Amino acid sequence: MQKLQIGSQIAQVGGQDELCHAVADELEALIKSRAAEGKMAVLGLATGGTPLPLYAELIRRHREQGLSFANVMSFNLDEYEGLGRDHERSYWAEMWANLFNQVDIDPANVAVPPSIFDHAEDAAAKYERAIQEAGGIDWQLLGIGGEGHIGFNEKGSAVTSRTRRIALAEQTIRDAAPGFGGEKQVPTHAMTMGVGTILEAGRIVLMARGSSKRDIVKQAMSGEVGPEVPASFLQNHRNVGWFLDSDAARS
Ligand code: GLP
Repeated sequence: MQKLQIGSQIAQVGGQDELCHAVADELEALIKSRAAEGKMAVLGLATGGTPLPLYAELIRRHREQGLSFANVMSFNLDEYEGLGRDHERSYWAEMWANLFNQVDIDPANVAVPPSIFDHAEDAAAKYERAIQEAGGIDWQLLGIGGEGHIGFNEKGSAVTSRTRRIALAEQTIRDAAPGFGGEKQVPTHAMTMGVGTILEAGRIVLMARGSSKRDIVKQAMSGEVGPEVPASFLQNHRNVGWFLDSDAARS
């Protein structure tokens, strides 16, 4: 793996396997050090295609090397509004299919933002409270959307934003359309952790791959910090790791 400076930030650049191993290594170290102290490791996890090889590597370590998730608590970043847990495109279902079902995490320690609620603000505040009660997020995984969103914090999201209901941007809906069989089937709203919620994590790891992410990654890492590109707020975090494949990193 190579280090590459982009603006004020340093990226780790490598092939997909190398990146997933490096990220899995730091996650494994955190889980084990917390377990040795008799504590929970509180993770913030992400959906999308980017983390899938990482989750496959974590499952492999669980099966072949006995990596245990018994002391892991997980809060997912976001969820589509209106999709029940049994909907295959819900992030709840995706997380269970791609990770949780295949490791020894206690289902009581899994949280995904609510998708069906009467009062969005109450539901969002409850999710924030649960994170606080867990002691805050130790380690947060992020992908990046085509317009620079993190979670579903679309363009215009404030640095102070908290978990809330948000309208999805047109590009986000277009990007999600293939998985839903067309744009009309994509939910128009979601519940997402806020930028402020994300920035409170002790460590943040953003993974990006593919040439379609190249320009937005560059903007996030070296462009002006502000709500135009919500991922740019990560430049102000004290412990963020950017893990890019060579297509996403090439300038
Ligand atoms: C969705 C998710 C984001 C994710 C993004 C990128 O918008 N809400 O959390 O980072 O997709 O997805 P992918 O990794 O498939 O490019």
